[in-house]
Amino acid sequence: MAKKNNNDTGLSRMLALEIARVTESAAIAAARLRGCGDEVAADQAAVDAMRKELNRLPIRGRIVIGEGERDEAPMLYIGEEVGQGEGPEVDIAVDPLEGTTICAKAEPNALAVVAFAEKGSLLYAPDIYMEKIAIGPGFQPGLVDLDAAPKDNLSALAKAKGVPIEEITACILDRPRHAKLIENVRKAGAAIRLIGDGDIAGVIHTANADETGIDIYMGIGGAPEGVLAAAALRCIGGQIQARLHAMSDQHRARVAEIGIEDIDRKYTLEDLASGDVLFAATGVTSGSMLQGVRFRAGATRTETVVMRAKTRTVRWIKTEHGAGQDR
Ligand code: FBP
Repeated sequence: MAKKNNNDTGLSRMLALEIARVTESAAIAAARLRGCGDEVAADQAAVDAMRKELNRLPIRGRIVIGEGERDEAPMLYIGEEVGQGEGPEVDIAVDPLEGTTICAKAEPNALAVVAFAEKGSLLYAPDIYMEKIAIGPGFQPGLVDLDAAPKDNLSALAKAKGVPIEEITACILDRPRHAKLIENVRKAGAAIRLIGDGDIAGVIHTANADETGIDIYMGIGGAPEGVLAAAALRCIGGQIQARLHAMSDQHRARVAEIGIEDIDRKYTLEDLASGDVLFAATGVTSGSMLQGVRFRAGATRTETVVMRAKTRTVRWIKTEHGAGQDR
């Protein structure tokens, strides 16, 4: 269990500001390379900046969802210890640049994302695919199910919302692997918001369907992104079910190697992220969730959302970096 802080259980509330610095810093670094067509360079810049900021924190942090295994990712690899080595033990999931392609093309919705959790409360997901279905808060548990037909899930959701199925919009990653799913959703009568990348935001959007117009997220995306999205839903409410999706023997071996015995296990929200969780995202490019970084003569501006599971607090932080200075 994580160390308790005075009367506060869970993560220290002071970390709610510190976590914003982590994603702000990564977003600014990546934003300098927006539209340059170099995904690797933008990702590396975000990784470097995020790691530097994490190492300033008064925590004993450990990366549980990171940039890869130690031998393939020199920074923010899974198992890397970050922070100043004193203070609470914190498990950390990072996606320094969610939407590397989006950023390289300066398209909407690239984010810098991080989640802090009490030790042992995030699923140590391998970097393979994950099947996901997510809806917002306020519905009976199990209203939608990964194993149900898309039509049944969509009609259950429509019924619970008191609207015809034609008024339901599903968010799905635009990938050939989703051809059948897309066909079935359309046959059922629902609309689809196809996204090019960025399914963390896709899932989060279900929590605020009135504003985003997205009622349900469906399909296969990255497993690390699934855990990060679940961390956000722990803070803002909603349901997610997920299952690892191996595409090769190498993937299956990786799953076994990290100690997951049942690859077909269906994970609930609590299996993916439990306990107290802090989630932060800063916009790199402007999108439906956050404004991207704006470089101005007087200051660099960022917009960040910070959420906390324990108190269900959602803070929207607009920051001016170096206000009043010439760049
Ligand atoms: P990256 O930032 O790593 O490029 O991930 C973007 C993303 O769209 C994720 O949001 C999503 O989970 C994953 O890629 C889907 O993977 P793929 O592009 O292989 O379909």
